[in-house]
Amino acid sequence: MSKEARLELDGKVFTLPTVEGTEGEKAVDVSTLRAATQYITLDDGYGNTGSCTSKVTFIDGDKGILRYRGIPIEELAERSTFVETSYLLIYGTLPTRAQLKTFSDLLTRHQFLHEDMTYHFEGFPTAAHPMAILSSMINAASCFDAGLMNWQWGKNQQFDIYAAQLISQVRTIAAYSYRKSKGLPLIYPKQSYKYTENFLHMMFSMPYEDFEIKPEVVKALDLIFLLHADHEQNCSTSTVRMVASSQANLFASCAAGVCALWGPLHGGANQAVLEMLDQIHRDGDDGSKFIAAAKDKNSGKKLMGFGHRVYKNHDPRATIIKKACDDVLAKLNISDPLLDIAKKLEEAALKDSYFVERKLYPNVDFYSGIIMRAIGIPVEMFTVIFAIGRMPGWIANYKEIMEEPKSRIYRPRQIYTGRTLNPFVPLGDRK
Ligand code: ACO
Repeated sequence: MSKEARLELDGKVFTLPTVEGTEGEKAVDVSTLRAATQYITLDDGYGNTGSCTSKVTFIDGDKGILRYRGIPIEELAERSTFVETSYLLIYGTLPTRAQLKTFSDLLTRHQFLHEDMTYHFEGFPTAAHPMAILSSMINAASCFDAGLMNWQWGKNQQFDIYAAQLISQVRTIAAYSYRKSKGLPLIYPKQSYKYTENFLHMMFSMPYEDFEIKPEVVKALDLIFLLHADHEQNCSTSTVRMVASSQANLFASCAAGVCALWGPLHGGANQAVLEMLDQIHRDGDDGSKFIAAAKDKNSGKKLMGFGHRVYKNHDPRATIIKKACDDVLAKLNISDPLLDIAKKLEEAALKDSYFVERKLYPNVDFYSGIIMRAIGIPVEMFTVIFAIGRMPGWIANYKEIMEEPKSRIYRPRQIYTGRTLNPFVPLGDRK
């Protein structure tokens, strides 16, 4: 029998049901609270609010656990690929050989953009941030498909195609936005290349010469995509669910996710980490001055790539990526002074009582930027790489919200703290 919570308010006792997840996570269900008591719950920043139940991803932030559909991230990082993991997230199980082939074929078939879309890239100034281009162009892509614009969940059978189209085209759009920012000709995807190889080809090949695709580079980038593929109800995924709850189409919902991801406190942190390391290097600091500034609330500085709303022990993705970073730098025979600074910063911060007491540890972004720099990804593309990786997670969450029979539009309440009734004063009488 499920437990009930008892709440005493204004001299009356109310009972509220509780909910328990498959991993023992507990919640008090407050959905009837306002109707019964006139009170709402107030939770600025949603730190203590479950916005949904979900079967996609499990995180235990205290133990540093991350699992996609029950499978530990460490096993997926070791044994899976981004494409296979995408299938797992969206459809709930690892694909059979035949299912994986069908899914991969769909990705290949839908990787080209509508040719007219290429003209839209012309309208952006060269200095436009690729995240701005990415979100606009994902939304624009839906305008080129009448079926998608008018598509309604449950009424059309095209979800598999649209999901594959989005995963595949986000990579093409991302590469095109980079080419545009450099004034380079667009390079079309190649049928013979797999997902990650094709991204590198579209980014770096030239019409007269194909880019040399090194297996260690493909492996490192594929791992980055996979590690970012989902992370339960973070800022961007909640945004996707919020937009999807109004029954907006898949592309519009995921374009909103890209906007939410852009900020430096979320996906934009990978770019911010590299800029921070570069600044420390240029200042000739060994990291100690920056750490002192990050502890001073008046400095406006933070140790970027440190801290997480959920992980309070370690971020398992950071552990995997730190090792991958060492491996790829060794294989490519690169020595990077910024990696040395990152290691010193991490060592110093992990011994510093400020960071220890607040349980601030390196997150996935702390080392991912160094790998991306080593494999030649320009810094302004770092968050775009994160967005490509996160696409299957957003799609899985979109699908989940559409399949939920009791799904309602997301509409939080607020406590109003502004002026009370305030009569309009005509312009001539205002002081
Ligand atoms: N450097 C210095 N101090 C920090 C840092 C940091 N990176 N992160 C948190 N703190 C401090 C806060 O100032 C606060 O101190 P206080 O208790 O004295 O006021 C305390 O630690 C708790 O931090 P909150 O801001 O309450 O943590 P919250 O859960 O709201 O934020 C966040 C988490 C946004 C990730 C934050 O740690 C941060 O800004 N980190 C740097 C940016 C970053 O790396 N973002 C990527 C997140 S991972 C991802 O999106 C993939």
